[in-house]
Amino acid sequence: MKITALINKLPQEGQLASLPRPYFNHSVELKKAFSSKDRAEVLARVGLNVFFFPSEMITGCDLLSDSGVTTMTNEQWASLHMGDEAYGSNRGYFAIKDQIKKTFGDVFFNEPGTGEPNAFIFHQGRTSEDALFTQIGKIGKNLIVPSNGHFDTTGANIEANQMQALNLFADELTEGEKGFHFKGNMNIERLRTLLEKAHDRVPLVYMTITNNTAGGQPVSMENIVEASSLAHEYGIPFFFDACRFAENAWFIQQHEDGFGDMDIKDIVLKMFSCVDGFTMSYKKDGLANMGGGLFLRADGLFMKKYQNIPGVLLDYQILKEGHPTYGGLSGRDIMALASGLATVTDQEYLTYRINQVRDFGEGMHARGIPVVMPIGGHAVYVDVNSFFQNTKMKPDDFGGVALCAVLLAAYGHRACELGYFTFGHFDKVKKVEILPEVNFVRFAVPRLRYEKQDLDAVAEAMKILHAHREEIPGVRVTYGRELSLRHFKAKFEFKS
Ligand code: F0G
Repeated sequence: MKITALINKLPQEGQLASLPRPYFNHSVELKKAFSSKDRAEVLARVGLNVFFFPSEMITGCDLLSDSGVTTMTNEQWASLHMGDEAYGSNRGYFAIKDQIKKTFGDVFFNEPGTGEPNAFIFHQGRTSEDALFTQIGKIGKNLIVPSNGHFDTTGANIEANQMQALNLFADELTEGEKGFHFKGNMNIERLRTLLEKAHDRVPLVYMTITNNTAGGQPVSMENIVEASSLAHEYGIPFFFDACRFAENAWFIQQHEDGFGDMDIKDIVLKMFSCVDGFTMSYKKDGLANMGGGLFLRADGLFMKKYQNIPGVLLDYQILKEGHPTYGGLSGRDIMALASGLATVTDQEYLTYRINQVRDFGEGMHARGIPVVMPIGGHAVYVDVNSFFQNTKMKPDDFGGVALCAVLLAAYGHRACELGYFTFGHFDKVKKVEILPEVNFVRFAVPRLRYEKQDLDAVAEAMKILHAHREEIPGVRVTYGRELSLRHFKAKFEFKS
């Protein structure tokens, strides 16, 4: 009794300024020591392209991507051991089937022998996109696939099949509206105008949750429902690119009226009740190092409208990846994935995860770095144009590429340019750069991997570079300016 009285008198656990993480380190990797001179030499050798920089030499934080770099839970490591490498119907197949039905809804995984095939496991997100858009591209000519923001591989897969990938960003994204939490929304007015004029050229409407290309910003339930209803009004199937579905659900719970008391799992089911299908990279909100898939609603508009496609997809999967019961993954990967998918909707995990990214971003903001606010789910986005405002940096000096190179060489942290170089292209006829709407450097935070101290070090390094922004030279492209997906392949050198 006495101790209860004392505890009641003390500040409650959640009210303390420093809260413990909802997990502890299970296994760690010790880093090797490298100097900034070592890093600068190697970076120059790989043409300042951070993708080619050896990860073993990263002495700081590797924030190149949040994809496939999750630190797995002990349950996932244990489930790897339970992997069954049978050629047909391995143990993991049943685990993933049950987990997909639980997480997204029964309608996304027909039991074998009942109904058309509608669940296709692939080894990555982009393989699922390739499978889908290869078939969609055959439906007609001059097709347009609108989205609130296509990821680079998604856009590239659409265009590789002679369709136009159209981004309909919300006005709030570019207008810098403060206090609006759903800047990842689809621009409903622009979608309506497009469908009024050209609905017969739109085979499906796509929505990325959270919106990676638009600063990792979430989409509201209201916007999901509106976009879905609008697509359905015109008889057009509505799809998610669902990579970060759990993080998106958390934002809905925290910031949208009417969802505060709802469990994340129920919010996810409600979100997915609006779609006719989705593509997925489990390397994000599957907490897995590998895995992806394409899932079609059994009673949805896509299955009704494009009746021959599921059968073709099944053959495609068998030819390109493997038997439908493993689909390009090893049995052990599938086990780890099923376990990760069960964990990712955990309230404590998600709250910690998203607050960690927010604190990192707000720490940058407090140090005077121009970041997209509010902070999104998986990454902090630095606005390159504001960063270099009033300096000599010109658009085709690719300040974002230069910033990433200097940060990596000087302080050992790896970020990536998602801006004028990544999303822009070189017009070979006019010999000019065609610039995209957004110009960011992204700091993606891997799940369950870094601690506050690590991320504080990145913010501190960025503060120093911001103070020296006048002295950061632009870059010249020495190879690959005119290539497709050029950011993965190009080489650069500093201009001075
Ligand atoms: N869609 C989105 C929104 C993504 O962010 C990604 C990957 C994909 C699709 C493709 O998935 O890598 O499994 O083939 N994004 C990673 C990133 C690479 O760094 O943002 P994948």
